Amino acid sequence: MKNIVVLVSGGGTNLQALIDAEKRREIKGGKITCVISSKADAYALERAKQNNIATRVIVRKDYADIHEYSKAMLEALNEEKADLVVYAGFMTILDETLCRAYPNKMINVHPALIPSFCGKGFYGLHVHEAALEKGVKVTGATVHFVTEVCDGGPIILQDTVPVLNGDTPELLQRRVMENVEWKILPKAVSLFCQDKITVKDGRAYVEE
Ligand code: GAR
Repeated sequence: MKNIVVLVSGGGTNLQALIDAEKRREIKGGKITCVISSKADAYALERAKQNNIATRVIVRKDYADIHEYSKAMLEALNEEKADLVVYAGFMTILDETLCRAYPNKMINVHPALIPSFCGKGFYGLHVHEAALEKGVKVTGATVHFVTEVCDGGPIILQDTVPVLNGDTPELLQRRVMENVEWKILPKAVSLFCQDKITVKDGRAYVEE
């Protein structure tokens, strides 16, 4: 069984999707063993507690800089014996020591079709605002491995939803979450835990 550690910062609906998938026995070969939040008041922590999952809080402003913060995160992940680290709405960018310590063992869900609307500054609702501003007709979400390039790692899974007339950022965010994020994140986690994802020359390949 692989130990899955989930990093969160907010409401934790993606964490909930993972918990629900685990309860339905859809996460094959893995178990969520710890949830680490960058915010003390993140509702995601409640979701973890309600499901008897261990929690930790590591707040950015308690550390002098991003390197000290990353060091604390690395120590926590090592102590938890993480086999897979899942960024599920985790809003702090960590330094390169994390990707080096956990190469192709950290995955992130991003609420757009990478390489669109991604990178620094594109997070949460801002991503959907940018998609509406551009007038794209299709958007979606991406699960990818975390590398030193923000939102630039090998893509594991993507899926799409239509953008509809009259959409607000909130409506679009909800459609992307419900129809894509909450499905492809648990699916990617399960594939990882069954060793069905390989990375070669910077690309991820999923065993059918
Ligand atoms: C999700 O839409 C997730 O894809 C996004 O934040 C939201 C968190 O919601 N993540 C990013 O934008 C990271 N770049 P949740 O806390 O309810 O899972």
